[in-house]
Amino acid sequence: MSGVILSTRELPEPFDSLRGDFDVRVLGGATGELELAAEIPGVDALICLVDDAVTGTVIQAADRLRIIASYAVGVDQIDRAAAAARGIVVTNTPNVLTDATADLTLALLLSLSRRIVEGDRMVRAGGFAGWAPDLLLGRDLKGKVFGVIGPGRIGKAVARRAKAFGMTVIAFGRSPRHEGDPDDPPRVSFDELLRRSDVVSIHVPLTEDTRRLFGAETFAKMKPGSLLLNTARGPIVDEVALARALEAGTLAGAGLDVYEHEPAITPALLDDDRVVMMPHAGSATVETRREMARMVVEDVRRVLSGEKPLRPVPPEGARR
Ligand code: GLV
Repeated sequence: MSGVILSTRELPEPFDSLRGDFDVRVLGGATGELELAAEIPGVDALICLVDDAVTGTVIQAADRLRIIASYAVGVDQIDRAAAAARGIVVTNTPNVLTDATADLTLALLLSLSRRIVEGDRMVRAGGFAGWAPDLLLGRDLKGKVFGVIGPGRIGKAVARRAKAFGMTVIAFGRSPRHEGDPDDPPRVSFDELLRRSDVVSIHVPLTEDTRRLFGAETFAKMKPGSLLLNTARGPIVDEVALARALEAGTLAGAGLDVYEHEPAITPALLDDDRVVMMPHAGSATVETRREMARMVVEDVRRVLSGEKPLRPVPPEGARR
């Protein structure tokens, strides 16, 4: 086997094993479209991350590219239609990061409902003066309604966890419920989910339909005092509208792992104690990242040796 592999970052093992068989070039940082377009001629396989702009301009500049492998389940950073038009396959890393992302979603929820981050800050600042009846009162999860936007793989894994905490789970999504799957929550309309849910959790991909799905109009329909969780993609939520909804008290808090203009964050959210934030780390466990690297390496090797990849992603709009 031979060929040139361009990766925008070093990845965990077995990424290094590619060096034995290919000319591997690593850029070492989030890469904009002009830099990628300049690097792509002569490259056979591109490995990219969620924050690399693999636009039509990059794809047009490619002259030998056969595969764009996303080291992520999300592929919204890639112009898939442009790739398909040039016969370039796009792959991702599904399934393996489902549990890690679902765990982080619940971690954000528990941090909000039991005020973990506030408590940690208070204790470290020397503010713990002894047990008190009203100290850092949170809210129970048991008996509350948990609304899943997008009951796909991750949405269902989150639903299973929410149920284990005694919550009633409902969902809004395109796909019908799989009868007989106890993890698949009953479907309701978008508006009913917003009206009934104490917690709304986003698990849809970023597409033109979901971009800014959560804006002022949507927040106005949410149950007063509810919580919003977003471990999917930042641009699904209008951050300025979210900050306003928190300020107005429509929402009691938000747990965020992703941001509209990553890595920048709307300052009003940074100043709000009712927002708990992680730096886009849904899949960030040692085990998961290693498995993601294994999948990327496997599909790059397959495509460069003339085989079909195991995890192709269809162009946007196409059905699997
Ligand atoms: C992370 O955001 C991913 O899409 O895997």
